[in-house]
Formats: sequence, structure tokens, C-alpha cells
Amino acid sequence: MLDLPEGTTFRWNGKEMRLEKAKLALCRCGGSGNKPFCDGSHKELGFQGEAGELESFQAKP
Ligand code: FES
Repeated sequence: MLDLPEGTTFRWNGKEMRLEKAKLALCRCGGSGNKPFCDGSHKELGFQGEAGELESFQAKP
């Protein structure tokens, strides 16, 4: 789960994207139809990731 300001822009596979929500979940199962975000597909896949914590985040220019 990331907690970044709404409207933050970033690049994903060369495509510029904009955060629509201040809090969001990133897909860790690889099955999301809306990568890089989680769309709930992990439930159907039976994916259960380990808990973790993102300690730092630095966007690349
Ligand atoms: S973690 Fe991949 S869809 Fe939720």
C-alpha cells in the first residue's frame, strides 16, 4: 500500500500515469488487469503474499 498525493505522476513501462487515489495497492501477484495496480485478481488466483513494508520510495525522473 502506498500513500502518495493524488495526482502524482509516474511512468510505467514508458507510459505516463497519474494516481487517481491517494492510497493504492500495487499488484504483487502478476495477475492484475490494471497493472501496476491491484484489481483484486489475486483472490481468484489464490495468491497470498507475505506481509512487507516499503521503507523508501524514489521516483525516477
Ligand atoms: S496483488 Fe495482483 S491483483 Fe491483487
